[in-house]
Amino acid sequence: MKGFLATLVASAITGALAAPAPPSPAEQGPITARANAAACATPVTLSGNPFAARSIYANKEYSKEVISAAAAITDSALKAAATKVAQVGTFLWIDTRARISVVEDNLKDVPCDQIAALVIYDLPGRDCAAKASNGELAAGDITTYKSGYIDPIVAIFKKYPNTAIALVIEPDSLPNLVTNADKQACKDSEKGYKEGVAYALKQLNLPNIAMYIDAGHGGWLGWNDNLKPGANMLATVYKDAGSPKQVRGFATNVAGWNAWDLVPGEFSKTTDAQWNKAQNEKEYVKLFSPELKSAGMPGQAIIDTGRNAVQGLRKEWGNWCNVNGAGFGVRPTSQTGDSLVDAFVWVKPGGESDGTSDTSAKRYDSFCGKEDAFKPAPEAGTWNQAYFEMLLKNAKPSF
Ligand code: GLC
Repeated sequence: MKGFLATLVASAITGALAAPAPPSPAEQGPITARANAAACATPVTLSGNPFAARSIYANKEYSKEVISAAAAITDSALKAAATKVAQVGTFLWIDTRARISVVEDNLKDVPCDQIAALVIYDLPGRDCAAKASNGELAAGDITTYKSGYIDPIVAIFKKYPNTAIALVIEPDSLPNLVTNADKQACKDSEKGYKEGVAYALKQLNLPNIAMYIDAGHGGWLGWNDNLKPGANMLATVYKDAGSPKQVRGFATNVAGWNAWDLVPGEFSKTTDAQWNKAQNEKEYVKLFSPELKSAGMPGQAIIDTGRNAVQGLRKEWGNWCNVNGAGFGVRPTSQTGDSLVDAFVWVKPGGESDGTSDTSAKRYDSFCGKEDAFKPAPEAGTWNQAYFEMLLKNAKPSF
């Protein structure tokens, strides 16, 4: 770990002498680490695809997790492969107020040709349709969400106008309001989700920020009957926020398992497949984006490809917890071959659990005990070494 971080620091110091111009559009290419490590000399204003000329910053928190995971591996080839994962730019989840303490450290060294990537994830009554990721704020506690979570994050972002930042806004929240509105916990959370997301979008609407609102995945809002209500839900909250300029569109497959463009889709042979044309994420984007636009919201997408390398593992499309046999997928890139998709990204940090398999735990969710779920698994967000090694061995492309 020391060596890796020291290199970053050293290049940041050298680079600071001469501030480079950001790469021209002609230099756009697959997201790869570039040698130059100087911060931008002037404020960043994002418009268009924020990933086009920027690679995603490999945040220090995930890098540290991966470097210590690699240190625990004895097989030398696997160890070397593991070390490379530390360089993959992955989203940093700000999933508690305490976690805000790492934000500044992960913004201050971002080079001008990179973009910091974070997940805003602390709504009151979080994860209303499941248990594994229930959050620290009780449903109804919108005051703490605004003043104790969003406001302090905004204050830090304002100190770094020269740093490009991409945000995924509140995974699962608005999709849950579309399809799980009958569940009591989601009823209790509804007002706070709408108000909280609108507040976040409004306050985080800074020139150096690009935002993507979570839109679930093809197996969730992709059903014929969910597409319009889903798009309307996102667009309504977006408009409630005053149609913030820096919202680029939506994020799909966050912490998910769907393939980008597999044909026929993994679940296209099931009896209910006739009701869902979004059999892969490419199809989902193609269907959802125009619905969003006609509802009055921008419709560019980013797709989480962090763990979708292996298909055919889930017994049911809705199985979301620590899918056994999964592998790291396509590396972050803006070369998506699809004009609606700004980038393939790694949002879920591969190796961090989706939920505990301990049936006696307070946040135990039965999905994490399913036949196709990897066991044992620790609490959501905590490291699972065996799962990480499995993702690595099954990675496509391999490391
Ligand atoms: C889960 C956890 C959260 C964690 C995130 C990324 O949603 O609930 O705590 O930060 O995954 O691993």
